Amino acid sequence: MKKTVVLMASPRLQSNTDILANRVMDGIRSAGSEEDIIDKTDLVELQEFVCCACGQCRAAGECLQFPEVTEILEKIEEADNLVLATPTWWLGPSSYLKIFMDHWGAFLRPDYTSRIAGKRAAVVSCCGNAEINLADQVCSQLSELLSFLKVDVVGTLGVKGVAEIGAVSRDRSALEKAFQLGVALNSK
Ligand SMILES: Cc1cc2nc3c(=O)[nH]c(=O)nc-3n(C[C@H](O)[C@H](O)[C@H](O)COP(=O)(O)O)c2cc1C
Repeated sequence: MKKTVVLMASPRLQSNTDILANRVMDGIRSAGSEEDIIDKTDLVELQEFVCCACGQCRAAGECLQFPEVTEILEKIEEADNLVLATPTWWLGPSSYLKIFMDHWGAFLRPDYTSRIAGKRAAVVSCCGNAEINLADQVCSQLSELLSFLKVDVVGTLGVKGVAEIGAVSRDRSALEKAFQLGVALNSK
């Protein structure tokens, strides 16, 4: 039995990010067993919990300010797999993912070793620009951060040219790649 935590970071209803995240989840299910657990969190729900830099999380291994944040951090620590799904916002992830990631100090021990080493991850992003794939760059940034935390990034998917809500649902190639990413994530 494997556990996967999916963090979805778009505020739009029926967003491209959510569509891609759901396809990754379909792939995870197809490669797994019935007992597998997939826990998806809409990070918009955590938007008010902004890090105040109290600096206590590294020693505590949790966020001492916001139990709602600690709840998700603990789910990640207990999981085998992590999926980050975010729109590209100004060459970075959305504010919603950034607000949550600022609490990842809790994943670092005081000696800077990682509490989430050895987990597997997949990263997806999408962007409106059809010429320059900034979503790929966002995936690279996030992969670098995960690698710093000793998480094994199994694959990434950056989809360009999807500005309108739901546009990615017409991009069969992107949907298939998202599905295969989920398969790869849950195959080991
Ligand atoms: C605040 C903001 C910043 C954005 N920055 C970029 C950008 O730098 N490059 C780009 O190609 N698209 C940018 N976009 C467009 C989104 O990446 C694009 O519409 C994407 O499909 C949104 O995903 P969603 O449907 O999951 O919300 C931006 C959108 C917003 C709202």
